[in-house]
Amino acid sequence: MKILVVGSGGREHAIIKKLKESPKAEKIYAAPGNGGISADAECVAIGATDIEGIKDFAVKNAIDFVVVAPDDPLVLGMVDALEEVGIPSFGPKKAAAAIEGSKVFSKWLMKKYGIPTARYEAFEDVDKAVAYLKEQNSYPAVIKADGLALGKGVIIPENEEDAIAGLRSMMEDGQFGDSGRRVVIEQFLTGIELSVLAFTDGNIVVPMVSSMDHKRAYDNDEGLNTGGMGTIAPHPLFTPEMQQRCMDEIFMPTIEALKKEDREFRGCLYFGLMLCADGPKVIEYNCRFGDPETQVVLPLLDGDLLEIMQAVSAGKLSEVKVGIKPGSAACVIIASGGYPTSYKKGYAIHGLDEKGGAEGVTVYHAGTKLEDGVYKNNGGRVLGVTAVGTNLKEALDKAYAAVENIGFEGSFFRHDIGKKVL
Ligand code: AMP
Ligand code: GLY
Repeated sequence: MKILVVGSGGREHAIIKKLKESPKAEKIYAAPGNGGISADAECVAIGATDIEGIKDFAVKNAIDFVVVAPDDPLVLGMVDALEEVGIPSFGPKKAAAAIEGSKVFSKWLMKKYGIPTARYEAFEDVDKAVAYLKEQNSYPAVIKADGLALGKGVIIPENEEDAIAGLRSMMEDGQFGDSGRRVVIEQFLTGIELSVLAFTDGNIVVPMVSSMDHKRAYDNDEGLNTGGMGTIAPHPLFTPEMQQRCMDEIFMPTIEALKKEDREFRGCLYFGLMLCADGPKVIEYNCRFGDPETQVVLPLLDGDLLEIMQAVSAGKLSEVKVGIKPGSAACVIIASGGYPTSYKKGYAIHGLDEKGGAEGVTVYHAGTKLEDGVYKNNGGRVLGVTAVGTNLKEALDKAYAAVENIGFEGSFFRHDIGKKVL
């Protein structure tokens, strides 16, 4: 089979490496891919949100299956467009992708179907939003832009002054463009945060291994929010009993709710959960694999990813094996100095072999380019150094041993990935 993977990050690299294990995968293209991905797939210079470009390429090259990995092309309807020209693909259609594309919609859905989540109100009018904040007078407050905002659309102000300033920059100054014209204000939840990525074909839902992200830039959860600085899997505090409870109270009800609303979801549904004292609650849904959760979840997937993705797309998920391997995985992100704000690109990376890898670990490339045989940093998050071990400590030790030898001018990483649950 000829497969096209849309996207250019560490998540896409992890998907491609796992797809390569399938005996059915003959040729893999990545659009646009990156320097490191070019060691595993043929990169073609088409942007991940260029729906017409992707469609033309897939038709002209007789692509058998397309994997649409990032949120924006899914929310824009890339899977619908591919289906129109008869190309099967992995990922939800536009109507279902709204579960990530609009927080107002996802909160409404949860409320309507009784899926546990933080209490909320949605606003289009800034004065009404300010009045609500004042009336609630409860801090920290949680304010979310309705639409996609590169993972930066959530603010958690500690006081009224910061909350009002945040609201105004979203709703009036267009900090996130149209994404922030509508907002959700919700109750602040405390508990244990974890993620579950699950395959669903709209009928059944099959969770992969649970994971834990680290969103802040620096050690001890200091610094700004990022796309994610490292992950571990499984999450040691997610017991089989809790998984069953989430299946009954959250996972299945979500799939059924989407179906009832005529928005059947086929793809990978990401449940961002908070295990609160009174039970598990949904913090957010993503309509796709998480990044960098995928970099620890897929190495522990016991099954043929291509076969699973095809089964999801065909509505036949119950016919394939989706297992979880024993052991643990850890991924440490190496980022460019200054990320998540401004940073410089183009520094040569040391410590990688000619294929972009390193001994004892798998190096997923998130933001690299290859120039004259030299890998250089070309994004904020640059590499995801991942190791698998019989337990979490072993996985972390292996990943950190490799991370110590890899870097470039200004590069940094967190030293405490997984430490809280070790
Ligand atoms: P999101 O983009 O929705 O994942 O939000 C970013 C981060 O903000 C989450 O990973 C949580 O750590 C935090 N967060 C979001 N919503 C809440 C909430 N209602 N209560 C507490 N923390 C939250
Ligand atoms: N790591 C969080 C996300 O992919 O949204």
